[in-house]
Amino acid sequence: MTKKTVLTGITTTGTPHIGNYLGAIKPAIDASENPAFNSYFFLADFHALIKCQEPERVARSTREIAATWLALGLDTDKATFYRQTDIPEITELTWILTCQTSKGLMNRAHAYKAAVDANRDAGKEDLDDGITMGLFNYPILMAADILMFNADIIPVGKDQIQHIEMARDIAGRFNHNFESLFTLPEAQVDEETQLIPGLDGRKMSKSYNNTIPLFSSSDDLRKLINQIVTDTREPGEPKDPDNTLMHLYRCFATEAESEAMRQRFVEGIGWGDAKKELFEYLDAQLSAPRARYNELMNDLGEVEAVLHKGAERAREYSAPFLDKVRHAVGIRSLTDTSSAQKKAEVKDKEMSAEEIARAEEGRRRAILMQIRPLLERVEQAEDKAEAAKALVAEKTAEVETLKKKARQKAQNELDLLTEELSALL
Ligand code: TRP
Repeated sequence: MTKKTVLTGITTTGTPHIGNYLGAIKPAIDASENPAFNSYFFLADFHALIKCQEPERVARSTREIAATWLALGLDTDKATFYRQTDIPEITELTWILTCQTSKGLMNRAHAYKAAVDANRDAGKEDLDDGITMGLFNYPILMAADILMFNADIIPVGKDQIQHIEMARDIAGRFNHNFESLFTLPEAQVDEETQLIPGLDGRKMSKSYNNTIPLFSSSDDLRKLINQIVTDTREPGEPKDPDNTLMHLYRCFATEAESEAMRQRFVEGIGWGDAKKELFEYLDAQLSAPRARYNELMNDLGEVEAVLHKGAERAREYSAPFLDKVRHAVGIRSLTDTSSAQKKAEVKDKEMSAEEIARAEEGRRRAILMQIRPLLERVEQAEDKAEAAKALVAEKTAEVETLKKKARQKAQNELDLLTEELSALL
């Protein structure tokens, strides 16, 4: 059984929060423990440059995300964990794929269209105002991330589905135009883990400014949980168990613990007490990985080394694979004529007997054209037999002195001469 490859990237622009943990990091780490899959996880730092022009923030986020995944127990012997920019093949592949991507396809990308719509709504005359080619080409870079490793399954948020479809389109076009080298990837969206509520009850997201950073200090964690929006019901009044505190609690707790908590809401636990419970539960669960995280953040050399090891492993795949891709599109060493020969062989196989006869006739005529003057010389000689013998001997001697290709050509001529003059020889 061949293993399926699971691959996902994390854009390095923010600080990992509880929503990222539950929605992406935890499921990914769990999946990487499954021996049925090959896992590739990477820090998409080139993607970060598209959205963020703050160098310090990109650098800090890259440190934080790397340390977070390791602190949460990612086993980098099982999963290949690397930084996108450590894999130069991805950037090269991006260009090759760019040349296979129709501009119209990119015009339809949600992120680009949203930016154009925002300009239109703002009454701007130039609808492309402030839009970089980085944003426009974003889906191609992402396709390269995925196709570089022939990934089968791409766990992503809903907003990324279109990008995976574009990667399929681009792969399909390449496969059709050149050689079938790329696997068509599929998006995997887990609806349930997409709905982690933030402080205000909306989906936890950087853009809503409602996140709980995963490795906040105990104090900060308590303060943030206290900010979670609730209704005004007093302690003792029954509360709807379908609330943000309960939802977050359930994401961490066991079934039985969750059921007990649910019951307490029905019985009227005060919001303050419920927040305290949630804080204590999360704090206990997160304290060990938090300690590890802080350790790693104080020893970034170790994290850097892990990333290098990951990049090395990733490149064991990407470097030889990119060679194939380059070859397929015609970027080759000048002395590499293997594919032209291969094509000729394939052609031979596919030709019918009649086609082969026609090709052979063409070849014969071409050679005859070359040797016509020689044949005429024999024609005009007084002793034709003598002249024919002399000519064949001369040509035979010439063949001996030549190298490979030229020799083959001369040999072909000699063969035909001998045939044409056979009556005289
Ligand atoms: N664009 C993705 C996001 O913003 C991150 C990403 C970059 C990615 N390259 C990828 C995800 C390749 C999956 C596969 O979430």
